Amino acid sequence: MCGIVGYIGSKAAQNILVGGLKRLEYRGYDSAGIATLSKDGAPTILREKGKVAELAALQTKNEVKDAVGIGHTRWATHGAPSVKNAHPHTAGRITLVHNGIIENFQDLKELLEKKGYDFKSDTDTEVLTALVDSFYQKDVSLLDAVLDALKVVVGAYGIAVLAHDQPDKIVAARSGSPLIIGLGDDETFIASDASALIGHADQVIYLKEGEVALCTAGDVQLYDLKADPISPAVETLEADMQAIQKDGFDHFLLKEIHEQPETLRSTLAGRVDVDRLRVQLGGVNMTDAELREIRNIIIVGCGTANYAGQLASYFIEQFTSDISIRVEIASELRYRSFHVPDNSVALIVSQSGETADTLACLSELKRRGVRCLGIVNAVGSSIAREVDGGVYVHVGPEISVASTKAFTSQVAAITLFGLVVAQAKGVGSQELAEYIRELEALPAGIESVIERVEKQVKELAKTYATYEHALFIGRDTMYPVALEGALKLKEISYIQAEGHAAGELKHGPIALVDDSFFEVAFIADNWLYEKSISNLIEVNARGGHVIAVTDSKKDIPAEAVVRIDSDLKVLTPLLFNIVGQLFAYYVSLERGNDVDQPRNLAKSVTVE
Ligand code: AGP
Repeated sequence: MCGIVGYIGSKAAQNILVGGLKRLEYRGYDSAGIATLSKDGAPTILREKGKVAELAALQTKNEVKDAVGIGHTRWATHGAPSVKNAHPHTAGRITLVHNGIIENFQDLKELLEKKGYDFKSDTDTEVLTALVDSFYQKDVSLLDAVLDALKVVVGAYGIAVLAHDQPDKIVAARSGSPLIIGLGDDETFIASDASALIGHADQVIYLKEGEVALCTAGDVQLYDLKADPISPAVETLEADMQAIQKDGFDHFLLKEIHEQPETLRSTLAGRVDVDRLRVQLGGVNMTDAELREIRNIIIVGCGTANYAGQLASYFIEQFTSDISIRVEIASELRYRSFHVPDNSVALIVSQSGETADTLACLSELKRRGVRCLGIVNAVGSSIAREVDGGVYVHVGPEISVASTKAFTSQVAAITLFGLVVAQAKGVGSQELAEYIRELEALPAGIESVIERVEKQVKELAKTYATYEHALFIGRDTMYPVALEGALKLKEISYIQAEGHAAGELKHGPIALVDDSFFEVAFIADNWLYEKSISNLIEVNARGGHVIAVTDSKKDIPAEAVVRIDSDLKVLTPLLFNIVGQLFAYYVSLERGNDVDQPRNLAKSVTVE
């Protein structure tokens, strides 16, 4: 949440900072700002409410050639979106950008007010800035002032700090909010995620928790919070420019929906051997004997990652009879006095690998001695670094705030893990064959669903974009698909959309049904077909407007029917979900919304 960039070298920093912020904008976009220092330390600070484009316009009118600077794109926590609350913040000789939340900012503010600081914003960040400035006295270096300030701070932070009288350095620090340092030729970059570094630096240092970096042009010194030096581990950044561009699509979301056959192939590559009907995973770091011992799987995630866990749990429970699975919402689990039985393994599911609640659950589970495996996309992210092993989903950068390709591959990756456990427990390859074959066939299945339904869904969106309320319903594996479909629609169309188990309708939600609602019913052609049709008829009888999405060829009494033509039997929910994704996209487009950066949301939620 929120994006940070920094640059020190010999080029004009403003352009590099604004360019970096554009790439990070998906993390937060209610205001943005940059601060640069001239050679003699004169600051130029530009801040604007709204998107980075507004800041870019301001920058073209206020161009300077300063070669050191920091920048920020914000997702508001303390203080409403406004210019005064936008970062960077300045106090005395210090200018600072910050991701995270300073929990004791109120107490610190009172102390600093007594020392004469006068606060202009409502933010915790301005307090942190003043705190650093209060320590930045004669004979105290910038590094020491930052370290002193961080000792009294409670909360989470990723920060980049400038001192006006020392325009040859930036200090960056991390605790609970990621930062990466990019090493160029006689220039150094700072970013809260790798996408801002692509094309600038391919040698990077991922700051670890509690590390502080003193950056100059072409050099980086690392310290812990006690000021003891640390030797940095330099890694190669593996990401390319093309992966973060739109490739001719109007929006990242549409690109990412269409990319799914390819990204899913990357998830499965080298892991599924359909000839031998075997599955293998390299990074789980567990022996067959350890896998055999597993009796409980806890799947933890937020939002779409949670729904991916829910869907995959229906699959995995088919594989063996001696495993029980629970799927938990991370923001709930972290505060419960939960008990974890012996022989448990936790799957920590996160696209970004930085979600604060999910990370907190990871710590809680580790504290209880539970082996934790990551189902993560962002390589080198906090979750990826802290788990005991795991399965990268390898879908490349997911830029659109609404998660699509990550969902599909998270379900696939969790299913692969379930298959690996089942194999280790001696379940015969023939018993797992259907899942293994369908995993292999799924990318082509997705390709053909997109081709078959996209035009129809685009047309339907014109009608249903005029509604303000929607219900999504499904039974069995279609229930998580309904939850995910409703989430997708609400987050980018702002239509109130609720996902329900179809069988639960009559226990309450059906009271909502009237002419002002439409319903999306996911109806699988399986043993629950008749029951699902009954649910649909109940809705029809109350004046509902039903769109049925089905893989059945039978006549269905609905206002509209979207048919999925597929030979798949068990993994079809992932095909139904594609329809939900496309529907949300086209409804959002129809309503003229900002598809990739919906209001009030951010791509990675690194605060509670
Ligand atoms: C989905 O479209 C979301 N924007 C959101 O629910 C997301 O899945 C959730 O915040 C978890 O993110 P993560 O996978 O990066 O942990």
